[in-house]
Amino acid sequence: MKREEKQMTDVTDTVRTLWATKSETYDNSAWHHPRSAVEWAAWSGAMRRLLPPPPARVLDVGTGTGFLAVLLAKQGYEVTALDLSPQMLARLEDKATEVGLKIKTVVGDAAAPPKEDFDGVVERHVLWTLPDPVQALKEWREAAPTGRLVLFASEWGSAFGNVARARSLAHDVLRRFRGECPGDNTRYRADLKSKLPLVHGTTPEQLLTMVEGSDWGAPRIERLPDLDWAARRAMPSMIDRLIGPLHNFAVTAG
Ligand SMILES: C[S@@+](CC[C@H](N)C(=O)[O-])C[C@H]1O[C@@H](n2cnc3c(N)ncnc32)[C@H](O)[C@@H]1O
Repeated sequence: MKREEKQMTDVTDTVRTLWATKSETYDNSAWHHPRSAVEWAAWSGAMRRLLPPPPARVLDVGTGTGFLAVLLAKQGYEVTALDLSPQMLARLEDKATEVGLKIKTVVGDAAAPPKEDFDGVVERHVLWTLPDPVQALKEWREAAPTGRLVLFASEWGSAFGNVARARSLAHDVLRRFRGECPGDNTRYRADLKSKLPLVHGTTPEQLLTMVEGSDWGAPRIERLPDLDWAARRAMPSMIDRLIGPLHNFAVTAG
C-alpha cells in the first residue's frame, strides 16, 4: 500500500473507533436527535422541499444513528443508510425496528458508496470528518448520476468566526453540564484534526467550492430558518435560548 493510501486508511480507522464509542450516547443530545414534534415536522418540510418526492431512492451518507434516514423512511422514501461504524448503524436498526420501518443499512466508507443510481444523496454533519471531502462528493455523484445532492450544515466551529465559535462552545458546556453527548470533534486529537480539511466547520464558501469542483454542477444554497426556529422552541432553558441556535443551511445541487 502506498504511503498516502496508508495514511487515509489510518485516519478512517481512527474515526471509526471514535464513533463506535459514541454510539451509546449520541442520541442523548437534542442537537443530534431532535425530540420535539415541531422540530421533526420542520425537518420533514425541509426534506420535502429539497429532495425529489417519495418514494425516491435516497442514500444517507454517514447516517450515524439514523436521524435523517428514519425521517425520510417515515415519509415514504426508500432509504439506504451508510456509515463507517457498525455500532452507530445498530442503533439505527433498533430504532427502525421499533417503529416498523424498513431501512437498508450498509457498513462502509463515505468515499466508496454503493453505486445504485439513487435519486438523491443526503448528509448532515459528515463532510467535516472526511480526509478528502471533494473525492467523497465525486463518488456520491457516481452513486446518483442524475440525482439531487443535499448537504445539511450548521454554523459550528471556529471557521465561522468568534461569535459562532463562542455560541457553539457555550452550548457544549451546557450539554456537558446536563450529561448529554458533548461536541463531536472534541475528542479528535490534534494529529487527526490536521488531516481533516473541514474539521473546524463547514462554511458556505467551502461547501460551494467543493461541490462545484465535484461534478455536481452549479450548487445552490439556502438558510433554513424553520429549523432554527423549531430548535430554539425546543431548547430546555432560557440560557440555551439566549445563546441561540446554531444556524442551519443547506447546499444542494443536481
Ligand atoms: C456527526 S455524525 C452525523 C450522523 C448523522 N448524519 C446525523 O446527522 O445525526 C458523523 C457520522 O459520520 C460517520 N462517518 C465518519 N467518517 C465516515 C466515513 N469515512 N464514512 C462513512 N461514515 C463516516 C460516523 O461514524 C458518524 O456516524
